[in-house]
Amino acid sequence: MEPTVPFASLEPGSCVVHQIGAAKVLIARIGDTVHATSAICTHARVELAAGPLAPGCLVECPMHGALFSPVDGSVHEGPAVTALKTYPARVVDGVVHVDVGEDGAARPATPSPSTPGARPSLASWGRPAR
Ligand code: FES
Repeated sequence: MEPTVPFASLEPGSCVVHQIGAAKVLIARIGDTVHATSAICTHARVELAAGPLAPGCLVECPMHGALFSPVDGSVHEGPAVTALKTYPARVVDGVVHVDVGEDGAARPATPSPSTPGARPSLASWGRPAR
């Protein structure tokens, strides 16, 4: 489990988005309980927004308005049809800890420019060679 945010920083009925390795995690507080899901909408891969939960303690996608349960990730209203992935979460010494498992593993390295078919990274475009 990875430490994320102080429990006291989460207002009841609100959520935050936290990066754990390669995983964007939505952490929601409902009453005195915390829940963690993927923070990426399953409809069009948009990041869900931090802030107050929608009525019914649901997470609303800012793009097309899908509603998800932060408790079990289920879809309450489309257009999304696939549930959010959930992660175990608990409070340890006043800090929310989340286990994202292999979802937090680092992304594969960018291919080397010498790799056949590889394109230069955006960071190297337009910069003079040193
Ligand atoms: S991207 Fe979330 S509902 Fe469409």
